[in-house]
Amino acid sequence: MSLRSITTVGGASSAVTTARPFIVNELKLDSKAELDQLARSLLAPAASIPPKYFYDALGSTLYNAIVLTDEYYPTRTEAAIFDKFRAEIADTIGSGKQFVDLGSGDSVKAEKWFPSLAPSRYVAVDISESAVEQALARLAGSISTNGKPELCGLITDFSRVLNVKHVIRDEPTVFFYPGSSIGNFMPDEAAWFLKQIHAHRRTDGCGLLIGVDTKKDHARLDAAYDDALGVTAAFNLNTLRHVNELLKTNFNVSQWRHRGFYNAALGRIEMHVEATCDLSLQIRGETRRFKSGERIHTENSYKYSPIEFEALLRTAGFDHVQAWHDDACDFCVYYAY
Ligand code: AVI
Repeated sequence: MSLRSITTVGGASSAVTTARPFIVNELKLDSKAELDQLARSLLAPAASIPPKYFYDALGSTLYNAIVLTDEYYPTRTEAAIFDKFRAEIADTIGSGKQFVDLGSGDSVKAEKWFPSLAPSRYVAVDISESAVEQALARLAGSISTNGKPELCGLITDFSRVLNVKHVIRDEPTVFFYPGSSIGNFMPDEAAWFLKQIHAHRRTDGCGLLIGVDTKKDHARLDAAYDDALGVTAAFNLNTLRHVNELLKTNFNVSQWRHRGFYNAALGRIEMHVEATCDLSLQIRGETRRFKSGERIHTENSYKYSPIEFEALLRTAGFDHVQAWHDDACDFCVYYAY
């Protein structure tokens, strides 16, 4: 674990601020065990690449482009729900709490809650150190000094285990998990993840604000994960470039194509990369042959009806659940405690 502070220069006036957010880094994404696991996933008969390998610098940029495509409705629908019901949701949560942002990225979604929730402390939790550094530096420079929450960051891969106990304080806390990222877990993992959040409650007044995509028309779901501009295709195929960097494999991206579609029986989007010809992949001295049409599974994105998701929250231990959605119920936001 490394613990360090950053100094920030920010604000339109370029004034040097004295705020020094601290960042704890306990990520070992390039550790030998992680890379061994990745190699094993590729060599397995049903090959897969965990979705966290989407997010190198180019992948993160492509994800930011996906949310701007016409077809990818979740991000803008969630933002519209937050904007429409912000005051009501903030009243339900209560102000002055510690705000723990799971998968904080650029922290822009969280920052929109600062005026209404007036958090005492903001904890950005993400797998990307550069994203947290930049976001905290920006926040330190941009928020007015009065009422500024204490800022800190934790770099970790919480898809394996959620442990933020050592960076959060024993005070009323709102956990924030927007964007339907919960859908990227298998349902049993999602239940386990929600239970872990519930187990982090150590005082009264703790809760979870979460955004979840709903089940809907097949064609709209298919289009959201296979947009006409090919942005999602580039995002998906980029994971092969990233794996080449990490494992020194010889993926030739032009020999693969994107597949993204809704599997209605399982209630999930599946993303795969599919070989367009017979080919051989070299992985650490071993050869993995792929037949034309064979796929590598790269992501699931589960969709939940409000009834299904409320049941999941209750199974995880949350007794109180309040929900908000858009008119078409394309997306749902829950506060659970
Ligand atoms: C991050 N996550 C919620 C996105 C999703 O919709 O499952 C990732 C994504 N994959 C393709 N498009 C977006």
